Amino acid sequence: MGHRNKMNQTLERWSSRRAFILAVTGAAVGLGNIWRFPYITGENGGAAFLLLYVVFVVLLGLPVMMAEIMIGRAGRRSPMQSLGYLASRAGRNTGWRWLGLFGAFTVFCILSFYSVVSGWSIDFMVHAFRGSFSGQTAPQIGAYFNDFLANPARMTFNHTLFLVMTMAVVACGVSKGLERLNNLLMPLLYLLLIVLAGHAVSMDGFGPAMAWLFTPDFSAVTPMVFIHAMGHAFFTLAVGACALMAYGAYMPDHQSLPGAAAAVAVLDVLVALLAGIAIFSVVFTQGMDPGEGPALVFITLPVAFADLPMGAFWLGLFFLLLLLATWTSSINLAEPMVSTLVGWGLKRPVAALVVGICVWLVGLLCVASFSTLSDFHVIGSMNFFDVVSTIPPEIFLPLGGLLIAIFAAWVMPQQEALRALDAGPNGFRVWRAVVRWVSIPLVVLLLISPLFH
Ligand code: PHE
Ligand code: NA
Repeated sequence: MGHRNKMNQTLERWSSRRAFILAVTGAAVGLGNIWRFPYITGENGGAAFLLLYVVFVVLLGLPVMMAEIMIGRAGRRSPMQSLGYLASRAGRNTGWRWLGLFGAFTVFCILSFYSVVSGWSIDFMVHAFRGSFSGQTAPQIGAYFNDFLANPARMTFNHTLFLVMTMAVVACGVSKGLERLNNLLMPLLYLLLIVLAGHAVSMDGFGPAMAWLFTPDFSAVTPMVFIHAMGHAFFTLAVGACALMAYGAYMPDHQSLPGAAAAVAVLDVLVALLAGIAIFSVVFTQGMDPGEGPALVFITLPVAFADLPMGAFWLGLFFLLLLLATWTSSINLAEPMVSTLVGWGLKRPVAALVVGICVWLVGLLCVASFSTLSDFHVIGSMNFFDVVSTIPPEIFLPLGGLLIAIFAAWVMPQQEALRALDAGPNGFRVWRAVVRWVSIPLVVLLLISPLFH
């Protein structure tokens, strides 16, 4: 163990502060912003949900994100090893390292559905560029999507392709090539979102969409809405699964962490808002249902572009960029599992292959959840896809985030926490007070709240 710890300390570093922010933004901005945010907001009544989600990003997501990256940075090992190492340095129980394994399990569940949904964007990208959606109406596009979901072979093909893309990159290590690709393409994604949201302004549904997104109706807020909003705050920031802990281990010295984390959170919320404006304007223009669920984006976006000049091109480009956004997130999702296996002595490519095969197999159950297994209810009325796309984000991530926060603010050597946060003694005291007296109690309260109903 000691020998291996020493070896792992010579980890790669991000080349600059900018590269670090880009990598974390790449992890954060993904399906959560463009696919999950609109449909979950639609299912939870709009503005009140949006407000809760933003509050939770500030009070929970952001402080816990700092805690998580801080642990990785102070440990400079795989999440499991960093936790064990820091616990032993503080003279605490090294059983804390199992938190790293829990994180790996969480990202495993998430990646299995993430890969399937990202596969949808591969299919839609190809068909958009071919012009298949041009001139089509909302019901026609809806039918196309339903046919696609009912076809396990097509879905499996795209799921496989996406997972191969992901694991190939992870097998090589998080390369500078990807850093640069991110660098080039993330701004393009923002640009396209602004164009889309700008286009939405001229639509009839823009006014109703803005009213629906920004006029909260608190009568719609049930305890479950709180849970959904908390889960989404963690999910969208990629917090609570030790995935950012893995990235934190590569963070260079002499860079303040809070500023970088805040920049990522602001970008992430902005992307979700722009996507929401663009999508709900179409929904209200076409008289569609905001509570449509996971299909929402895959129907509204093609509808929005169907009658635009060069619509096929822009739509294809949009799905390409969605694909790249999900690619950079899925690499982050795979990293804690792969780095854990590498920490156990496996070669990186072998570790990536093992993880890839396991995720692929579980992904097949997600694929089948839209056809043969659609009525196979795992919990209540939820089928397998519903379970893995709901329970890990809404329960595992908050629970993991809670333990990460406790570890950072109470367990690990506080001198090392102070150094890893790199925000001076006062900055550290503010961060720690927020984590100890706001974030931790709030997560506990929210996690136990359903028990009282
Ligand atoms: N943040 C990613 C998204 O919004 C999902 C993710 C969750 C990535 C957890 C890594 C870890 O799509
Ligand atoms: Na996100």
